[in-house]
Amino acid sequence: MKVFLQTFGCQMNKLDSAIIESSLRDAGYQFVDNAKNADVVLLNTCSVRDHAEQRVMSHLGNLKHIKETKSDLVVAVIGCMAQRLGDELFKQSAVDIVCGPAQIAEIPRLITEAMQEKKKAVAVTEKIRQVSPDAQLLERFEIEYSGDDTDIPAQAYVRAMHGCDKFCSYCVVPYVRGPETSRPPEAIIEQTKRLAQNGVKQITLLGQRINAYEYKAGDKTYCLADLLGMISKIDGVEWLKFVTSYPSQKYFKEIVQAMAELPKVCRYLHIPAQSGSDQILKAMNRGYTSAEYLELLDTARQIVPDIAIAGDFIVGFPGETDEDFAQTVDLVKKARYKNSFIFKYSPRPGTIADKRLEDNVAQEIKERRNHELLKVQEEISRALAAEFTGQTVKVLVEGPSKKSHQAGNLPQLIGRTAGDWIAVFNGPPASAGETPRLAGRFANVKITRTTPLTLFGELF
Ligand code: SAH
Ligand code: SF4
Ligand code: F3S
Repeated sequence: MKVFLQTFGCQMNKLDSAIIESSLRDAGYQFVDNAKNADVVLLNTCSVRDHAEQRVMSHLGNLKHIKETKSDLVVAVIGCMAQRLGDELFKQSAVDIVCGPAQIAEIPRLITEAMQEKKKAVAVTEKIRQVSPDAQLLERFEIEYSGDDTDIPAQAYVRAMHGCDKFCSYCVVPYVRGPETSRPPEAIIEQTKRLAQNGVKQITLLGQRINAYEYKAGDKTYCLADLLGMISKIDGVEWLKFVTSYPSQKYFKEIVQAMAELPKVCRYLHIPAQSGSDQILKAMNRGYTSAEYLELLDTARQIVPDIAIAGDFIVGFPGETDEDFAQTVDLVKKARYKNSFIFKYSPRPGTIADKRLEDNVAQEIKERRNHELLKVQEEISRALAAEFTGQTVKVLVEGPSKKSHQAGNLPQLIGRTAGDWIAVFNGPPASAGETPRLAGRFANVKITRTTPLTLFGELF
């Protein structure tokens, strides 16, 4: 049986897809890169913005056509859209299976049943804010994941936390991923050891608010700093990253201190601000002011002077004025992020912002602010990247770059530094068709030229 799996959304979804792929391979399925050649199509979906959902809807339209000539094809919508929309998704005639993120362990069974019994099936969590997902089932499924199907060789995600309790007013995640819970440290350690034994060198711990990780066992409460310390001791793990951090005082110093003291912990912090206007931050229910946010960045830089910081912003939140936006521009300038992810506000059904606030910033103003903020960020990124010129950086090699063929007979490789900068360089000569031998290994690259997002160099 051949499976085509397409993943939308954040690292949580990428991890879920890797786990699903790993388990289906163990069950004998093969993976193909095209829906037309597949017996089963899995779309692992995201609900965070309307655009992400629309892309899935248009895929489902195409799949309907494929099914007209291939009626045995099984189509499953899994992930956050599945949880949000449930059996409403059966309005799309192509859909056979709807399966939420907490039910991924059931996918192998659901596929088999869909093939044998040819009936539609839905598995999602009812009343998701009241019940935690079936943690035990998910935990068993998760812990067996061996990391052999990561999209980047030698790197794997490990979930430290499920869900989110923050309820930022614009955000759908608490409604589709359920209550915030931290996995027991021993499960994380056991999984990480297994991954390291399988050759994984970089572990990225995942949580919607990873710095809020907290696990009580007897008298001891483990926080993220403790977890970083414990994972640092695992042989084979060389780099340790964690995303995404939420701007809050609790444990912040301990975590940054751990970064300063533990050589394996990468000096990289992804800590979204979302806005620079206190009024908008309040309406977003973020729980901090722009001054408090900047203080956290100061603390981080005092303890780890060379820390690389990345941010997220939403422009065009309801009521955002030119003045509010000017404050966001100001914050970006002060924060000096290595990069920022900038999004236009998208109302999400069921969220507080959607229920109570009118989406009243015109589309063209959203576009303009998006563009302007990107430009401001680009200049900062350009200056920060330029500082690398002449330096030699260590990168974990991911594989050939997209433009690999342009480099003549030397394969062009792409990798990432500990600070999450992308580095592009010519690999060692390889015969045609051979996978570049450095993928999944560390390399030293001497930087000769930079652009705002990329460091270019030569193997050192
Ligand atoms: N848990 C992470 C982010 C999860 S969603 C955190 O809190 O930082 C990733 C990003 O999508 C968010 O940081 C936010 O910038 C953006 N986002 C979330 N909901 C959105 C919405 N309704 N419209 C536009 N962007 C949104
Ligand atoms: Fe969404 Fe806020 Fe939770 Fe992040 S912290 S997932 S933005 S509700
Ligand atoms: Fe999207 Fe779900 Fe992640 S909504 S951002 S895939 S948690």
